[in-house]
Amino acid sequence: MKQVTLIPGDGIGPEITEAVKAIFSAANVPVSWEEENAGQTTFESIGELIPATLIASLEKNKVALKGPITTPVGKGFKSINVQLRQKFDLYSNVRPAKTTKGIETRFDNVNSVLFRENTEGLYSGLEMFDERLQISDSVARITRVGCQKIIRAAFEYASKHGCKKVTAVHKANILKSAGAMFLGEFNQIAKDYPNIQADDKIIDNMCMQLVAKPEQFDVIVTTNLFGDILSDLCAGLVGGLGVVAGANIGDDMAIFEAVHGSAPDIAGKGIANPTALLRSAIMMLHHLELKEEANRIEAALEATLANQQECTGDLGGKASTMEFAQNIISKL
Ligand code: NAI
Repeated sequence: MKQVTLIPGDGIGPEITEAVKAIFSAANVPVSWEEENAGQTTFESIGELIPATLIASLEKNKVALKGPITTPVGKGFKSINVQLRQKFDLYSNVRPAKTTKGIETRFDNVNSVLFRENTEGLYSGLEMFDERLQISDSVARITRVGCQKIIRAAFEYASKHGCKKVTAVHKANILKSAGAMFLGEFNQIAKDYPNIQADDKIIDNMCMQLVAKPEQFDVIVTTNLFGDILSDLCAGLVGGLGVVAGANIGDDMAIFEAVHGSAPDIAGKGIANPTALLRSAIMMLHHLELKEEANRIEAALEATLANQQECTGDLGGKASTMEFAQNIISKL
C-alpha cells in the first residue's frame, strides 16, 4: 500500500476529491490517503493557509494529489501553489493535452505534453517598486541549472514514451540573455538524444502554430510564463481546463493537481466535473508505477466520456459528480 497526501482544497475540491476516492476504492488501487488540507477553508478554521502538518505529510509521503485551492485576495497572500512549487523545488510542470473521443473540439488529433519550468522566470518573486520614480520591475531570472533540469526532464519523458519530437519555445531573438541561455542549453542537451527530433519556435509563432496545426507538436518545453500561457492554450484545444491533468514534479517529490480553480459559482451543488482531478490521479498512478490500475481506470473514464449522456453538465450531460463517478465505476 502506498501512502499519498491528499489535499481536497476549496470550493468544488472536496466534491471532486470524493469522486476520485470512490473510483480508486472501487478499482482496489493499493493507495491509502493521508488527508491534509490547505487554502481558504483551512485559513478560516486554523488561521494558516499551509499548515505545518501538511508540510510534514508531504515530506514523509513525497507524493500528493491536490484539488483546487482558493488563495484569498489581498496583500500578503502569496499563491499556495507557487509556494509549494518553490519550497519543494517542483521544477517540472507537466501538462498533457490529448483529444478525447466524445468531447467536441475544433481538432480531432491533438496529442502533446507540455513541460513548463515551474520555479524561475517571471514568477521568481523578484519584484521591485520605486515609489519616487514610479517604476516597477519584475525580474525574469532563470538559471543555467534550472534550464538544464527542465529540458532534460522533457527529453527523458520523450525518450521513455517513444515521442518523436521535442520543441523548445522561447523569445531568444529579443531576450538576448535569458532566451539565448535557454535555447543554447536546449541545443546542447538535444545532442544526447539523437533519435529524437529537436526543433524550436519563437513564442508568438508557436501560439499561431498551435491554434492552426496543433497536431505537429509532441513534447514542448519552455520557461515559466510562456508555459503558463501555452498550457492553458493547449487545454483549450482539447476541451478546456475541466478535462486536463497536471503535475508538479521535482527530483524527489511530485504533486498532481487539477489545473482548474475552485469554481465558487458551482461549489456545493454536486455538479462539478471530476475528470481533471481523476486524470491527474491517473498520472500519479503511472508515477507510482501502478500501470495496470492506471490503465484500467483510464479505459473506464474514456468509455464514459465517449457517451455525453453519462457526463456532467459542462460536457453536455446531466449526471451529477457522483453519478458520473458511478458511470466510470460500472465500467471498471
Ligand atoms: P475556475 O477554474 O475556478 O472557474 C472558471 C469556470 O470554469 C467557472 O465557470 C467554473 O464553474 C468552471 N469550472 C472549473 N472547474 C470545473 C469543473 N471541474 N467542472 C465544471 N466546471 C468547472 O477559475 P476562477 O473562477 O478564475 O477561480 C476561482 C478560484 O480558484 C480563485 O480563488 C483562484 O485563485 C482559484 N484557482 C486555483 C487554482 C489551483 O488551485 N490550481 C487554479 C486556478 C484558480
